[in-house]
Amino acid sequence: MSSHTNENLTKITVPSIRTAKELGEKLVCLTAYDYPTARVVDEAGIELILVGDSAGNVVFGYENTIPVSMDEMLFAVKMARRGVKRALLIADMPYGSYHINPDETVRNALRFIKEGGAEAVKLEGGRNRLETIKRLVNEEIPVMGHLGLTPQSVNKLGGYRLQGKTQETAQTLIDDAKALEDAGVFSIVLEMVPRELAQLVTESVKVSTVGIGAGTDCDIQVLVLHDLLGLNFNEKQARFVRKYATLRETMTGAIQNWANDVKTGNYPNDNESFAMPNNVKIRGA
Ligand code: KIV
Repeated sequence: MSSHTNENLTKITVPSIRTAKELGEKLVCLTAYDYPTARVVDEAGIELILVGDSAGNVVFGYENTIPVSMDEMLFAVKMARRGVKRALLIADMPYGSYHINPDETVRNALRFIKEGGAEAVKLEGGRNRLETIKRLVNEEIPVMGHLGLTPQSVNKLGGYRLQGKTQETAQTLIDDAKALEDAGVFSIVLEMVPRELAQLVTESVKVSTVGIGAGTDCDIQVLVLHDLLGLNFNEKQARFVRKYATLRETMTGAIQNWANDVKTGNYPNDNESFAMPNNVKIRGA
């Protein structure tokens, strides 16, 4: 059987994501930041691909997502776009790209849609983003919201911790989710919140919830691809990450085997190099 399970499957769209929630069908979302990973993820049949600003830590080597720029994200979105046929491709708006005013936000989001080929954008925040979200939706740009742990707020939050764990912050999150829905988002990421809270939000809104560290009841689950594959340098793995491969070790092993083959004369062999045609005689100087 082909491992390319997206063959003959219909294109994922914003309306089809809503239908999936109505039918109680669970969907999956993974990050990708370039052509080969986006292509592998799409061909594996994953329904949503997020070019997340987690690219900042995961592939650009920054300490967090704060320094990630529009140009870096646009470059990543363009690479991913070329690898995706079926999944819905979502571009994450980097810190600073939607904070100045709604006009500038629309200009930046349009770059992701027109130049990058994204089909939706994601931005972090609750009721403080309503004006911005309404403008984007009004300009025909589908928006995914992001509540709970919002990594672009790391300086304010002081770290990456469970959110919504008090009566008051849980209520704020529920109210934010409803306000985002009213403003027109098609989905809401819930990151690192108690599972009971994620379940309540999922049942309270008609738009899809996208859980990461938010328990099993969300409509969609999302993970950072490199965490799932074991290709990261995190000293401490987040509790919600389940590693399905150990790619860092696999890559190191393959690279060392090749280096060893070169140094012991095992690579390249005759089949991996080219012989001079018989009729050509070469002489030394
Ligand atoms: O940037 C990202 O990858 C994200 C997901 C983890 C939701 O925001």
